[in-house]
Amino acid sequence: MHNDIEHHLPLLIEELSSKDSDEAIDTKWRAILTRFFNNVSITLKDNKIDDCQLAEPHLKLMVPAIDTRGHFEITSLDHEKPFTENDCQLANALLTITRQFNSFQHAVEMGAAEERQRIARDLHDDVAARMLTLIHKLEQQKDIDIARSILKSLRNAIYTLDNRSTTTILDAITDIRAEIQERLNTIGMQLIWEQPCQLENMAFTPRQHINLNRVLHELTTNIIRHANAQFMSISVILNENWLNFRTEDNGVGFNMDECIPGKGIHNIQTRIKELNGQVEWNSKSETNNNKGCCVDISFPISTTTD
Ligand SMILES: Nc1ncnc2c1ncn2[C@@H]1O[C@H](COP(=O)(O)OP(=O)(O)OP(=O)(O)O)[C@@H](O)[C@H]1O
Ligand SMILES: [Mg+2]
Repeated sequence: MHNDIEHHLPLLIEELSSKDSDEAIDTKWRAILTRFFNNVSITLKDNKIDDCQLAEPHLKLMVPAIDTRGHFEITSLDHEKPFTENDCQLANALLTITRQFNSFQHAVEMGAAEERQRIARDLHDDVAARMLTLIHKLEQQKDIDIARSILKSLRNAIYTLDNRSTTTILDAITDIRAEIQERLNTIGMQLIWEQPCQLENMAFTPRQHINLNRVLHELTTNIIRHANAQFMSISVILNENWLNFRTEDNGVGFNMDECIPGKGIHNIQTRIKELNGQVEWNSKSETNNNKGCCVDISFPISTTTD
């Protein structure tokens, strides 16, 4: 009924360390069982069990779930091939390995979270505090502005390190909008902001917040540096649980196939990918009446603050 553990050890390791580290451990556990037991169906049942058990007449094998309450019921689809004691022992061995992997992964995550918080504490109590003292000592307004913007970036970094805190989408977007407005105003450009959607009771993770901030910052920089435009428009749309941003300008535009991408476009792509989202450039195309540049960004968000 089962495939040997030695033979399939590489598969077990591959499954446990699969790239999708956010995947729930019981999704992995089910995938492992599917790999090791052929021609079976697997269903999650409510009641909790501690060990793997064979059920009479050995066409069912009950296996505890790792993290979820309940157990998996493995049913042989081939009535000629019932489960054996050997299968049960194999399932118990796999269960031990998967439980150990889960505790190990949990310990690594806890360690990383503690370390992040320690760095965040040091940055906050030491570096940010010193920056504040420096700002009070500076005399030239130009220097004060630079120091303030460094302090702001530092605070953002501290905030991102503490991965548990969240900010409401509305607050985050209001801040981003004010920042872009200020940048464009100083060079006499107009910002058109459209936000018809309801964004109450929704929160960004620190990563979503900081990545969106940096992406919109770079798109604004690119318009200021390259577009020679009179305005920049940003519209925010919530579509199911996907948040979409469309930024447009009425500048010179560019041909994506011919341009030499710098760090800016590359970083935008990386940051949006990190949010499991999508980004697309359309320049001088029908999307924007052959004018300027239009960038569509979207990424999934969780729709409650709980
Ligand atoms: N809104 C825009 N209007 C016109 N051209 C643009 C616009 N955005 C990007 N570009 C073009 O795309 C190129 C690549 O942009 P990217 O941000 O990757 O690099 P960069 O701005 O040149 O340098 P950096 O690495 O400092 O960001 C730019 O050099 C420019 O030619
Ligand atoms: Mg750039």
